[in-house]
Amino acid sequence: MIGLYVLALVHVNGTRPPFYMGNRHPFSRFRYTLISNWQSSDFRVWLITGTSSGLGRDLVRKAVDRGDRVIATARRLSRIEDLAAQYPNNVKVLQLDVTEPFKQLRSKAQEAVSLWNGIDVVVNNAGFGCAGVIEEGGTDALMETYKTNVFGAVNVTNAFLPYLREQRHGTIVFIGSRSGWRTNFVVRYYDMVLSRHESQYSSYREMVPLCFVLVTNLPKLILIIGFYGSSKAALHAIADALAEEVKPFGIKVYNIMPGGIRTQGINNMRWVRGETSSSQCSDFIKAISDYDEAIHTMTNHFQSTNGHETGDSQKVAKVIVDLVHCEGVATDRQPDVSLVLGSDAKRDIAKKCHGVLDLLDQWGDVAASTDLSE
Ligand SMILES: NC(=O)c1ccc[n+]([C@@H]2O[C@H](COP(=O)([O-])OP(=O)(O)OC[C@H]3O[C@@H](n4cnc5c(N)ncnc54)[C@H](OP(=O)(O)O)[C@@H]3O)[C@@H](O)[C@H]2O)c1
Repeated sequence: MIGLYVLALVHVNGTRPPFYMGNRHPFSRFRYTLISNWQSSDFRVWLITGTSSGLGRDLVRKAVDRGDRVIATARRLSRIEDLAAQYPNNVKVLQLDVTEPFKQLRSKAQEAVSLWNGIDVVVNNAGFGCAGVIEEGGTDALMETYKTNVFGAVNVTNAFLPYLREQRHGTIVFIGSRSGWRTNFVVRYYDMVLSRHESQYSSYREMVPLCFVLVTNLPKLILIIGFYGSSKAALHAIADALAEEVKPFGIKVYNIMPGGIRTQGINNMRWVRGETSSSQCSDFIKAISDYDEAIHTMTNHFQSTNGHETGDSQKVAKVIVDLVHCEGVATDRQPDVSLVLGSDAKRDIAKKCHGVLDLLDQWGDVAASTDLSE
């Protein structure tokens, strides 16, 4: 009898039964049975931030391909209404700016949960890059970046956690970045020229005389993504801590750390000050001429790498869907919290880790020397 009742309710409009909302519902004593039924119905309800472009948009599509239901969110609804139109049975849209005050985000969460009568997965994808040097951007640029990339992600997560805790299951995904591990680049002039022309001349590398390569291939260190990189490093530590805090409630936390993905990300980047500056992180930046060369190199670097990133946004999205469902690449294994995606990210993070291990080897005696003598 109960089984029939459950079956009748589980598939009404593809939404979750109304008593999904918590233990305090009159039907809560049947909760275990009901959850089993939803899980066997095998779809998840996702909320994804920043779905107007790039990875967020691809994630909506991959979740839908998997048969899941999605609440696609964006600052401007007009930019995602096509998703709801294209997938009327799987996608509902909601206006959501992650920098809204927490109280507003709590109401948005309540509204979101009512759309499919539940929530299983929250993806903190909204984010942007802020390029510039620390002295010029200072705390204004840091604050601007963190408002979206860090505080926004934490506020959205906290707005949904009461629902996930109450139902004792769910997944929180943070889209971090390899840049949390690598805040500076070594750029070679030759590589910049090459990446610009590679598409036109496939054998460009062979065409360049050796002496030109030798003269111009000198490494040039630029320190450029401290604002963005530090925001993603913060997210990394937050994800690690949160994972432990919510584990007792059956909630899983992932921090995805991709390398460069070929999206509009670089075009949407904000500049503290730049030669191609369209949108700025702060209005009251004073340009410091000592950094002109660094800004120039940075501008060139982003122009030349734009469109040459090696990461495929759709493949990244598919891995995330696999993780959430513990299938595909995640069938017999789940990362603890962090997952690195992209051969460039793997290379850079490995390099950083080797550097840290070398440091510990070389300075281990000094590290131990500062302990209190008992
Ligand atoms: N592309 C890469 O190489 C790369 C590498 C590692 C990590 N990531 C991370 O991947 C995520 C997606 O980036 P992407 O490459 O797909 O770039 P993207 O195409 O620029 O997408 C960023 C999305 O975030 C949204 N967004 C920005 N600020 C927001 C706010 N305050 N509230 C809500 N939405 C906001 C944007 O929406 P609007 O249309 O409203 O601006 C856009 O939909 C970001 O967190 C990024 O840091 C990217």
